[in-house]
Amino acid sequence: CGIVGVTGNKNSVSILINGLKKLEYRGYDSAGIYVNDQQGHDYLVKRPGRISNLEEALTPEVQGTAGIGHTRWATHGEPNEVNAHPQYSNDNRFYLVHNGVIENHQQLRDHYLEDVQFKSQTDTEVIVQLVDKFVTKYNLDTKSALLKTLRLISPDSSYAFVLMDREQPDTLFVAKNKSPLLVGLADGYNMVGSDATSMLKQTNRFMEIDDHELVIVKPDAVKIEDLDGNEKTRDTFTVDMDPSAADKGAYPFYMLKEVDEQPAVMRKLVQKYFKDDQPQLDEKLLQDMADADHIYIVGAGTSYHAGLIGARMFERLTKTPTTVHISSEFAYEQPLLSNKPFFIFLSQSGETADSREVLVHVNEHHWPSLTITNVDKSTLSREATYTLLLYAGPEIAVASTKAYTAQIAVEAILAKALGEFKQIPEAQDFALKQQLGIVANGMQAITDSKDKIESLAAHYLSKPRNAFYIGRGIDWSVSLEAALKLKEISYVQAEGFASGELKHGTIALIEKNTPVIGIVTQDRTAGLTRSNLEETEARGANTLTIAARHLAKEDDTIVIPDVDPLLTPLLSVLPAQLLAYYTSLGKGLDVDKPRNLAKSVTVQ
Ligand code: G6P
Repeated sequence: CGIVGVTGNKNSVSILINGLKKLEYRGYDSAGIYVNDQQGHDYLVKRPGRISNLEEALTPEVQGTAGIGHTRWATHGEPNEVNAHPQYSNDNRFYLVHNGVIENHQQLRDHYLEDVQFKSQTDTEVIVQLVDKFVTKYNLDTKSALLKTLRLISPDSSYAFVLMDREQPDTLFVAKNKSPLLVGLADGYNMVGSDATSMLKQTNRFMEIDDHELVIVKPDAVKIEDLDGNEKTRDTFTVDMDPSAADKGAYPFYMLKEVDEQPAVMRKLVQKYFKDDQPQLDEKLLQDMADADHIYIVGAGTSYHAGLIGARMFERLTKTPTTVHISSEFAYEQPLLSNKPFFIFLSQSGETADSREVLVHVNEHHWPSLTITNVDKSTLSREATYTLLLYAGPEIAVASTKAYTAQIAVEAILAKALGEFKQIPEAQDFALKQQLGIVANGMQAITDSKDKIESLAAHYLSKPRNAFYIGRGIDWSVSLEAALKLKEISYVQAEGFASGELKHGTIALIEKNTPVIGIVTQDRTAGLTRSNLEETEARGANTLTIAARHLAKEDDTIVIPDVDPLLTPLLSVLPAQLLAYYTSLGKGLDVDKPRNLAKSVTVQ
């Protein structure tokens, strides 16, 4: 979910709507705003669906100088108007937007609110009714009532709250635990938002909020306290980002823009991380990593898939045993760890709750960690020992593309630097800077062949319900990501499979015209994967091959330029991204905002 709030500006409605549009990537099941003009008028407007539905529902009289807004990714209660936020108390005095999950909402409801009639199925309504009860029945002031409520929320809960009280309409009451929230300081007014981009149009000056703090935001002041009422001071920071970098320009969808940006991202990474032909990284980071006896890579979704590639690089170039873990699994089923672990967190957003849960645990043990992320000062970046940035520019489409390839490139840079530091010959011989130049040109060549990929998507993927990507080794790892792209935006049920494993069961699913796409980039396994493709063809499959040029055969469908065998994922994934894009486009789906998904998942 995404949250935005503003106080002290006459244009609060348009500020809230602009902010929500920037946050739409965090969820778009329903949206709502509450605004107050401080002259006795206030308005609550909520709609299921996209922000555009909410915008259409706003009549000219809906105006205010302060307000809060929310775009939802449903956890409790279906995404309809009643369950949309802001949620409000039954006396229409308190309005609350919330991102997160209140784990003990049922207990709170049973214990304190038995007599209260609930409108929605949300855990959020419990909180706003509770604040109201403490104010109206126990005669607490609003701040004390909120503090009391915060203390009652179980520690495993997650929340970012912005509360408004109709009787103090210039004040935003703000608190967070686990879920992200930032204060933005503008000229003559102040804001809060789930991320910096939601406020960048107004300001580039921000203030962090830590877990277990209460922040009172007024038009001309921001006061931070801990939950015992002790006042805290906090420095501000500026974010140096061009707000137009998050616009899609002439592109029909962000995803296509982001696919096309990949060559430029590769060149940018070379520029940022290399001096002459050597990567330049913090020596302390390299020393900490060299001291480790095992690297644990942790991530979710596409970032997990980028980790699968990185692990191969760390083992090959640094000779450090490396394993990759899905963060939501690691958090609750921790594997037996080595004596000197080093943790790498991969996260485009730097906010994924599942990954953060692991980092909190890692920090409790004082293990060294590195976050590789696209978002500077994001939660995972702030809380890890080290950060390396992806420099990919804002990624808006839910389906991750340029962040995946940037993560792989940064992992390669880190593996090369660490391998050199440890004097491993394979790393010393790896001409990475030159190879990344070849990758950038190769990516360009692939994105230039969109017409061909569009017709392949129409021919092979527009009708079937199922599809397979297969490969061995590093090509298998890419198959997983390729299949994820296809399923998340085109709703074709796709599997990424180790091609040798197909015959042990899954081949039973192959029917006439089932598309099977083989990725063939490695000398040692090319022949084997081709045989496995033929086995599926013999059972009726419609096969397609994405092959490296030096291994290509005449009837291969997509040929990609040659590059070092460790870096082939940076190229082989691009046709898969484009196949997914055009399949989704061909079906008339919303490529950037697939159903049920959110870009940044801040609940566990
Ligand atoms: C969500 C997104 C995925 C993303 C995953 C991890 O599920 O829809 O595209 O890969 O989160 O996100 P992160 O920001 O941690 O890389």
